[in-house]
Amino acid sequence: MARLGVNIDHVATLRQARGAVYPEPVTAAGIAEMAGADQITVHLRGDRRHILDRDLELLVRTVQTRLNVEMATTEEMISVVGGVGPQQATLVPERPDEITTEGGLDVVRHADEVERATIALRERGIAVSVFIDPDPAQVERSAALGLTHLEFNTAAYAETRDEAVASAELARLQRAIAAATSRDLHVAAGHGLHYHNVQPLAADPAVEEFNIGHAIVARAVFSGLAEAVREMKRLVG
Ligand code: PXP
Repeated sequence: MARLGVNIDHVATLRQARGAVYPEPVTAAGIAEMAGADQITVHLRGDRRHILDRDLELLVRTVQTRLNVEMATTEEMISVVGGVGPQQATLVPERPDEITTEGGLDVVRHADEVERATIALRERGIAVSVFIDPDPAQVERSAALGLTHLEFNTAAYAETRDEAVASAELARLQRAIAAATSRDLHVAAGHGLHYHNVQPLAADPAVEEFNIGHAIVARAVFSGLAEAVREMKRLVG
């Protein structure tokens, strides 16, 4: 059975939309763990649009499973994440104006940066994974750099509404997963996965871990909305 990493970035997005003290990401992490999450994932962005440094500091101290921090390979992030010390860092590309991560990290083009960040984080006892597109050249270069864990970007598969494109992208993911496991790399998958598209990947025993956020937080709004209204109605009624 694969591990589920619950990405709680968008709990922080909701808090930041108002600059409020709630909803508290640490509470979300605890509830996710009580419900069976095997890992909590957050992305500390350079612009701090959702997760803040204080969240990271608190999560490192309170997460009882493991904390996986997505981060760019910048000196700032190496210093902040390295200083806090989560169990794992996942290296991702980051463009300041993007709405969300737009693609995998190009490990072929940025091999030096990836190597430098990997060494620095490992020296601080942090396991390193890299978020890449399902491309054999990226897998090969990651293995050559001594990486042991990969997360495949599932966005191209997950975000299309064209069934032919989805099945071609699924086949591309499956080929890349096979290339990774043939090199004894550990495989995770994530980005854009939801309740109606995760099944074919979940059926593949080679995928050891999923990192899923937006769909879970979006579902939680609906699964909790009726009770939230009832509670407020009791207060005003
Ligand atoms: N994995 C990585 C590397 C990501 O960058 C993200 C988005 O922060 C996710 C997984 C989760 O994506 P989503 O919120 O679409 O489930």
